[in-house]
Amino acid sequence: MSDNGPLLSVRVQRKQQEALDICSLELVPVNDQQLPAFTAGSHLDLHLPGGVVRQYSLCNTPDQATHYQVAVLRDAQSRGGSKAVHDLLHEGDVLNISHPKNHFALAPSASRHLLLAGGIGVTPMMAMAETLAAQGAVFEMHYCTRSAERTAFAPRLAAAPYSAHVHLHHDDGDASQKIDIEALLRNQASHADTHLYVCGPQGFMDAVLNTARAQAWPEARLHYEFFSTAPTARDTDGPFEIEIASSGQVITVPADSTALQALLKAGVDVLMSCEQGVCGTCLTRVKSGEPDHRDQYLTPDEHAANDQFTPCCSRSKSERLVLDL
Ligand code: FES
Repeated sequence: MSDNGPLLSVRVQRKQQEALDICSLELVPVNDQQLPAFTAGSHLDLHLPGGVVRQYSLCNTPDQATHYQVAVLRDAQSRGGSKAVHDLLHEGDVLNISHPKNHFALAPSASRHLLLAGGIGVTPMMAMAETLAAQGAVFEMHYCTRSAERTAFAPRLAAAPYSAHVHLHHDDGDASQKIDIEALLRNQASHADTHLYVCGPQGFMDAVLNTARAQAWPEARLHYEFFSTAPTARDTDGPFEIEIASSGQVITVPADSTALQALLKAGVDVLMSCEQGVCGTCLTRVKSGEPDHRDQYLTPDEHAANDQFTPCCSRSKSERLVLDL
């Protein structure tokens, strides 16, 4: 079981190249199953050849419940996911997927939306743009890539009825088309109800979010989704203890193990998915102790509250953490 229902069996109906090093998969049910509906910003867990499970955002229009579409960048640093999609998955193959989950939803109360995509971070933004356009919402999308040849979905965006709202920026293009994040966010600051959505590589996310925070955008108007992060383990990591509040069981987390691995080894069931601190699936309440937060999922304010942590990557600053399990 995934954390939101049984796995679904789907077939790769179409696999196509969307840009240099980016392919998309169109997934359809293997039988007469109906695919669960999804909302813009949702992702799926794909159970890939080789036994790896990876999360990919849905990039088709949410009302197209006949299929799911994901797009995947070939990553030279791949831990197995992008390699499996690019090299091992073929049209006609059957695989298991989770139900769609959404940790990156559009804010229903916002009257303006600013979508900022970096590279493959465009995938959830495609579904967002299509949803906002269908709603007649006020929105602007900025899509930054290294070059035109690495720009997935360019023809689809150019042909979309909302193409006037989409601005492409290429790193190798001339200066006039480069994105000025500082100015872009400052211009929006006069609209007190603009919500900002950002998805892309770590450097891009940091640049956008740091600029927004420096301009005092409220956290409630910042929405972001990381795909993956740099490794979170450090040479200086030491052991610590976890106490299970309901049973009093005390588990030692060795220096070379994550809290999640130690919990699972001790027979304590914790839901997990990305194991990189980006999806929030393993989020666990902390009753006492001070976590050493290493995730990208919680906001700075949520980190400061210290009442929850992600055991897949975060550790402890105190000798013991008491978990509400
Ligand atoms: Fe994704 Fe921990 S499993 S944040």
